[in-house]
Amino acid sequence: MATPTSNLRIFPAPDQLCRAAAAQIAQMISGHQGQRFRLALSGGRTPEALYRILATEYATEIPWGKVELFWGDERYVPHDHPASNAAMVRRSLLDHINIPANQVHPIPTGAGNPASDAAAYQQTLQACAETEGELLRFDLLLLGMGDDGHTASLFPGGDWLAERAAWAVASRAPVPPHGRITLTFPMLNAAHHTMILVTGEAKQQVLQEIFANPTAAASRYPIAMIDPQGEVHWLVDSAAWPEAAHR
Ligand code: 6PG
Repeated sequence: MATPTSNLRIFPAPDQLCRAAAAQIAQMISGHQGQRFRLALSGGRTPEALYRILATEYATEIPWGKVELFWGDERYVPHDHPASNAAMVRRSLLDHINIPANQVHPIPTGAGNPASDAAAYQQTLQACAETEGELLRFDLLLLGMGDDGHTASLFPGGDWLAERAAWAVASRAPVPPHGRITLTFPMLNAAHHTMILVTGEAKQQVLQEIFANPTAAASRYPIAMIDPQGEVHWLVDSAAWPEAAHR
């Protein structure tokens, strides 16, 4: 995994981090030459604050009509369940911006079988790919990092980490909701830009290991296993990266 500190920015608090992320996202979308800007969203608490900023301060500044939204992972619950990433994005972002419904692609969870819904999502992704048979390359992929070093719903120790053919698979989380659907490493690594948002003291240990010894970390932590073709931007708050801890 490339963890160049040149692409590492540290912020005093989550709010500053989310404001900087929002500004960078707005700049990337507005400056994008292509017809569509393909943005893959992360779940979790940190990005929810970012989405609220995008929904308020950038509701009209970002040309949402050229954005196509995808999800990096989903909890296997109904889309109106409190733990749903689709529900979180709807209440924090989609209910406040004008984006064509056919450009919003939540991960389905209605088949009663995560593997079936993962396969259905792969078909959606393939239909959106520029070139048939080639991976869909997100213009920007948002990722978080769990306290255990997971990212999306690629949790440590599962066979989903070895998946190199499917674009989306079922996985399981050690915490409820246990059922998950996640994009696989080939999809994550195909992104042109990857923005990893990390906040909170609980992430310190893993972050310290990743930046101290990326190779060793890549044998333990899924976030350290990603090796995107494009640029990786780490946005970290000082609780997760205290200067003192990294002298
Ligand atoms: C999810 C996310 C997950 C998240 C990390 C970090 O569905 O929960 O995709 O991978 O990014 O758990 O979450 P926080 O940003 O809330 O710490």
